[in-house]
Amino acid sequence: MSVGSEGREGFTSRFGIICAAAGSAIGLGNIWRFPYIVGDSGGGAFLLIYLGFIILLGIPVMLSELIIGRRGQRNALGSFKRLAPGKSWYLVGVMGIVAAFMILAFYSTIAGWTLEYVIKSLGNAFSGKDSGDISAMFTSFHSQAFRPLLWQLVFMAMTAWIILSGVQKGIEKYAKILMPFLVLLLIIMAIRSITLPGAGAGLRFLFQPDFSVVNSSVLLAALGQAFFSLSIGMGALITYGSYIKKQNNLGNISVEVSLADTLIAILAGVAIFPAVFAFGLDPSEGPGLIYTVLPNIFQQMPGGYFFSIIFFVLLAIAALTSSISILEVVVAYMTEELKMTRKKATIMAATAAFFVGIFCTLSFGVLSGTSIGGLTIFGVLDFTASNLLLPLGGLLIVVFVGWYMKRTDVRDEMSNSGLLKIRLFNALIFILRFIAPVAIAIVLFDSLGII
Ligand code: PFF
Repeated sequence: MSVGSEGREGFTSRFGIICAAAGSAIGLGNIWRFPYIVGDSGGGAFLLIYLGFIILLGIPVMLSELIIGRRGQRNALGSFKRLAPGKSWYLVGVMGIVAAFMILAFYSTIAGWTLEYVIKSLGNAFSGKDSGDISAMFTSFHSQAFRPLLWQLVFMAMTAWIILSGVQKGIEKYAKILMPFLVLLLIIMAIRSITLPGAGAGLRFLFQPDFSVVNSSVLLAALGQAFFSLSIGMGALITYGSYIKKQNNLGNISVEVSLADTLIAILAGVAIFPAVFAFGLDPSEGPGLIYTVLPNIFQQMPGGYFFSIIFFVLLAIAALTSSISILEVVVAYMTEELKMTRKKATIMAATAAFFVGIFCTLSFGVLSGTSIGGLTIFGVLDFTASNLLLPLGGLLIVVFVGWYMKRTDVRDEMSNSGLLKIRLFNALIFILRFIAPVAIAIVLFDSLGII
């Protein structure tokens, strides 16, 4: 990073920003969460709705966050304070920080599972096992306490270490080189998956919409997944936006990052669902889906031993470039607003998130019987953050840019003070003012039974 305007550190190149924003967006959300939510939500119809939400709501919210961050030149909370002094808008930032804590807590649980699967792959643990054995292996792992907690701690420590040591930019550059390999691997796995006997049912499940399964909770799930996957609604991209230099084109960044994120999610779907059906597994089995499906695919691939190791390592790295963006939301707030040192802020935030995360991890084991409103502790954290706080944050963010900010300021920020030609500006403002807030409000309030 280099020192940018106002003496803040900033990304030095367009390359750096795309790496960081795409690094944040592409992660477990695409490869772990997307397939299982599609599976839970009945397949094809969900996918279509999801795509609609990405275009109509996701890209505008992402752009709005970048605008707020670059104009505010502060963390998620500080940017609102600066752009709307004396007003309550900073509460959107507070909500984002709460969401960041919750997401980091359960993200580290699942990222920890990925680390366990790196070790299992190295030990050739899947060899000769049928799909029943592989499912049993997963159950016996996540229902223990010690190993999942250990891996969660390791992952959280890695996240904190990257934030602390300032190697973030280095990591993002590596990620830029490594992520194309992840995509390549997913393509190879997708090919293997769709050539398995019985794979057609999986493709039909993913691509043939059956709208009879759509209800308000499916709509909410699609909304939550779109926000989670794009890293929007809690200020991660406000924070990153504040590190972006004046000469970068925020509109292009939003479109490119959203496109890449969506393609990778679909690719993950194409790798997973044909195999789910070919191996007679259950598409709606929940958060364990990829861990019970993917080892079966590797077993059917020449060189599967090596593929499985590389895949889980790359998935862990993709998770890291996302988790650092989540922790950064909290750390940037604590250093800028509470004037803490970066070290103290990082250690405190990571420790607190780990503490909450312990309960989340154990909710797949000894605490699996503890339910709150019919959800496990993991379920509560995930639902509250992904399906409620992120959409609500996104709603307020578009209202802020569409209604509160001056139109000339929005135009100025998008066009880099008139240097760039911007197309469709009026259409964008229309979306920010009317379409996005109304659509988010309808889905959110309908599913909560408020309307
Ligand atoms: N978008 C990340 C993923 O798909 O894995 C997760 C995430 C990162 C969510 C940052 C929210 C966020 F602010």
